[in-house]
Amino acid sequence: MSIETSRTHKTSYDAETHARLTADSDVIVARYPRARSALLPMLHLVQSEDGYVSPRGIAFCAAHLGLSTAEVSAVATFYTQYKRHPNGTYTVGVCTNTLCAIMGGDAIWEDLSDHLGVGHDETTDDGVITLERVECNAACDYAPVVMVNWEFFDNQTPDSARQIADDLTAGKAVVPTRGADSVCSFKEMSRVLAGFGDGRADEGIGAGVPTLRGVELARAEGWTAPEFPGATASAGAGATVPVVGGEQSSAERPATTPADVSPAAEQKKQSTDDAKES
Ligand code: FES
Repeated sequence: MSIETSRTHKTSYDAETHARLTADSDVIVARYPRARSALLPMLHLVQSEDGYVSPRGIAFCAAHLGLSTAEVSAVATFYTQYKRHPNGTYTVGVCTNTLCAIMGGDAIWEDLSDHLGVGHDETTDDGVITLERVECNAACDYAPVVMVNWEFFDNQTPDSARQIADDLTAGKAVVPTRGADSVCSFKEMSRVLAGFGDGRADEGIGAGVPTLRGVELARAEGWTAPEFPGATASAGAGATVPVVGGEQSSAERPATTPADVSPAAEQKKQSTDDAKES
């Protein structure tokens, strides 16, 4: 079920909120050579204000970046991290991608969905938890993994995941098994994703014993990665750099358009593209 029906969509921000979002947006836009490149973090910014990418948030982004609301909506609907209806305070994501699924992720999902009475991308009646099936979180070494607002809860079981959900519902603090020492709210997390750090990025460990097992084994056995075929340049001992035009080089594409040649030409091409779109 959804809590969307209990809320109304506001069409604009009050003056104080608008001024605050404008100041934050100016900071974000300044990071990019072109304003429109700031759209992704700005969508997180309005999500940090409204708990989802609201109609007024879309209108704000469009006005601030000189885009149409259709262009902003097209981006917001493409990525699953942008919510099109009010999200719960916590997104509880159960990884049901291949490895987690066979290690117990599917069982966790079934149990948690039954326990909370909601399905994928649905929010509990109290507005606390939005449940999601999530794709691989690059934490397969700790499968099965549950994420709460993108903080790791490793090696979960149906019982442990249910306990996390019950604690969140009861307003109790839950502690991730790796990374930050605590879980923030969905709105707070969205502000971090907009590029405004909350000082927790360096808390805890990221790569644990299972994560580092491969590299430690390689060092102990003296294993090294093979050279790239065709690589001729070296950036230091054991390192290779791509060679333009070489096999497997990401820089292999030669300059074939005016935009490849100079920043001025690239800017001119962008202006032309913008004019065609308007
Ligand atoms: S499959 Fe779940 S973290 Fe990779």
